[in-house]
Amino acid sequence: MRKKVAVLISGRGSNLQALIDAEQDAYEIALVVSNVEDAGGLAIARAADIPTFALAHKGVARAAFDDIVDGQLRAHAIEAVALAGYMRILSSAFVERWTGRMINIHPSLLPLYKGLHTHERAIAAGDTQGGCSVHLVTAGLDEGPVLAQATVPILPGDTPDTLAARVLVEEHRLYPRALADLVRAL
Ligand code: GRF
Repeated sequence: MRKKVAVLISGRGSNLQALIDAEQDAYEIALVVSNVEDAGGLAIARAADIPTFALAHKGVARAAFDDIVDGQLRAHAIEAVALAGYMRILSSAFVERWTGRMINIHPSLLPLYKGLHTHERAIAAGDTQGGCSVHLVTAGLDEGPVLAQATVPILPGDTPDTLAARVLVEEHRLYPRALADLVRAL
């Protein structure tokens, strides 16, 4: 039986697309949740006939918002959660509820460069390698145990955009594999 996965997004959804494209025997994406009502990724989900739930978080308390999302996950019998560009800090109750079953992809070689502007910071530091990490989600932002990483070279003349594009190619390879490994172990 394929495990039912929800993908949480806020933006364009290129990692969502990669997860959809790679769907095989391990998982099926049974729900896409967005906290941004016009996120590009919602169109990707609809094109793939995946149910969506979109609700702007503005004006809704964090815990209450996450309870609503959790209700959606339960209603769709979701077994694991993949954050894919979900730009919203999660409540501790939600993190606890999904501990061990929720992963995130972050565009740096964690533990380096948690948070935003990762590529800019890697270039400014003179790093010769960048990359991406998939980690279990825990209470601290981008702090959970790392499950998988991919590296790319940082080349002379790289800008945050050229580096981001090079890393993104690796994100799209890494995330489906890491998600499949996670759900197989559940
Ligand atoms: C990716 O770079 C991911 O690593 C980060 O947010 C970005 C999301 O991009 N967490 P997309 O929406 O999947 O295209």
